[in-house]
Amino acid sequence: MSKRLALPVASIIFGFILIGIVVSNTPISHAQEGEQNLAALRGSAVYAEFCAACHGPEGEAIGSAPGFVSIAEFDPATVRAQIVKGYDSDENTPVKMVGYGIEAGGPLQSGPIDDVVAYMLTWQTPEADTPELPAANLEPGSAAYTGSGDPAEGAVVYAYSCLGCHGRDAKGRGESNFPRFKIDENSVRVAATGDGHGFVAAFADNAGGPLTPAQLDNLDAYLRTIEVEEEEEGPQGVTILLMVLGLGAVGLVGGVYVAAVRQGRAAG
Ligand code: HEC
Ligand code: HEC
Repeated sequence: MSKRLALPVASIIFGFILIGIVVSNTPISHAQEGEQNLAALRGSAVYAEFCAACHGPEGEAIGSAPGFVSIAEFDPATVRAQIVKGYDSDENTPVKMVGYGIEAGGPLQSGPIDDVVAYMLTWQTPEADTPELPAANLEPGSAAYTGSGDPAEGAVVYAYSCLGCHGRDAKGRGESNFPRFKIDENSVRVAATGDGHGFVAAFADNAGGPLTPAQLDNLDAYLRTIEVEEEEEGPQGVTILLMVLGLGAVGLVGGVYVAAVRQGRAAG
């Protein structure tokens, strides 16, 4: 072998040896790891719909008001119960978090709660990939709107900040802490200020929340495009796969990933 070739060949061989070491050292529990990744992926959709509104994309909090707390350093041992039952660290302040578990009158079954915890754990696990939060997939309604706000932008604001508690078209999720509300000129003001309502954070940036005046205008624009129907009988059921915020989409995309990952595992 010529000297010119010796070095590249040697480095290629060395590369293969390295790959060999890495491959043979990968954890035995491929399947378990895959399960965990899938749970985190599903959980990212749950988190986007229900939690990011107050805690921000990765738990870093997105406002300075007490309703928007950082959970980047959450305690894994207690977090599940806090999500299920809600959390009130100090009864002398009005600040508290609603319970999301069905046993506490919330919309989330235990599966999605496990998933959201799996997603949150990726923040604390350096070797885990934190899935990207899915983008909102919510279109404005069909009612005419002539103001200056942008209903499409407002739909994104609604999906991110309101949908988790108020459901599609502000129809609620059929539980008292997840109520429908009547859309009128007052709706955005209530959300902007919190209006003294227990679980409603003050979303306006001048009150310590994340939403700018322009975003609040867009939110108002979006709400005005929703056709308000007569009060319906009975609670609106919640099916995880039908949740908006792309979770419909995430359900599908996620499903594709599930299939792809399973096939990959089976083949490999
Ligand atoms: C409307 C705002 C809001 C939403 C939405 C929200 N939270 Fe919270 N969360 C809070 C507030 C406020 C606290 C602190 C309550 C207190 O200290 O009394 C809190 C506390 C927590 C804690 C405990 C932090 C600690 O200090 O131990 C965890 C964990 C948590 N939230 C997770 C979640 C998850 C997961 C979701 C989505 C399922 C969620 N939250 C949705 C407002 C919210
Ligand atoms: C953590 C859950 C939660 C989030 C997030 C949330 N709300 Fe609410 N909202 C509630 C609850 C619970 C009530 C009822 C409070 C009460 O009656 O004391 C309420 C009440 C309201 C009301 C008043 C209803 C009435 O008839 O008085 C309006 C309007 C409203 N919310 C709009 C919004 C908008 C817009 C957003 C998004 C920027 C939002 N909310 C985000 C839980 C939430």
